[in-house]
Amino acid sequence: MSFEPIIDVAEDADDLGARAAAWIAGRIAAAPGRFALCLSGGSTPRDVYARLAAAPLRERVDWSGVHLFWGDERFVPRDDERSNYRMAWDALIARVAIPRQQVHPLDVEAPTPQEAAARYDRLLHEFYGAPRLDPGRPLFDLALLGLGADGHTASLFPGSRTLSADERLAVAVEGVMPEARVSLTYRALEASSEIAFLVCGEAKRQALRRVLDGDPSLPASRVLAGAATRDAPLGAVRIFADRAAFPI
Ligand code: 6PG
Repeated sequence: MSFEPIIDVAEDADDLGARAAAWIAGRIAAAPGRFALCLSGGSTPRDVYARLAAAPLRERVDWSGVHLFWGDERFVPRDDERSNYRMAWDALIARVAIPRQQVHPLDVEAPTPQEAAARYDRLLHEFYGAPRLDPGRPLFDLALLGLGADGHTASLFPGSRTLSADERLAVAVEGVMPEARVSLTYRALEASSEIAFLVCGEAKRQALRRVLDGDPSLPASRVLAGAATRDAPLGAVRIFADRAAFPI
């Protein structure tokens, strides 16, 4: 049984933040025990994280079972304004009672992005508890993803060599953006029970249209297609988009 993506259209960025945050809180609250949440970087999620960290949602969620991971990171110090970790820390982590040992950022103190990717790959396998991903058992309960105007998601960029990564769950991405990045691979992202894209603004309209039309040259389309081939409990995809990005 494969899944068609569910498109949740919000009036505007503010409404998208409210809808996505409420939905995410509901997913965490509905899940007994451990909940592995893979965070997205970029700017769109900041409002969503801030709403999760504020009343009433903060109280609706039992944060004690939540584990946080990142879909990608800029290979910069954690206090750098470009850091996805820093964004999530300021908007969410510093404001909710997630046990600090359950916050799993990428190791940006590693000597190279390649070493940081290898360390994250090991960390994910240790968390998962097996050397290989089992198609029937998710790595993440929920992965949040953004969409670039060029159709990239996480730090999987169109035409990038890293797209065809092998067994790895994390790879270094260099020569695409001003700073080196580390990104989870398709293999890791698709090992999610649910995936939610957060897409805001007119600048994303054409990319979202192409993704929904299944344009294979766009990494975000590949994630959708990959998820659609998965069987329950993996693969449900929800797209939160505002009217500017998804005119109806
Ligand atoms: C990053 C992200 C990236 C982001 C998109 C959309 O580290 O930049 O993971 O994939 O989600 O670029 O970014 P905005 O939300 O800022 O438009």
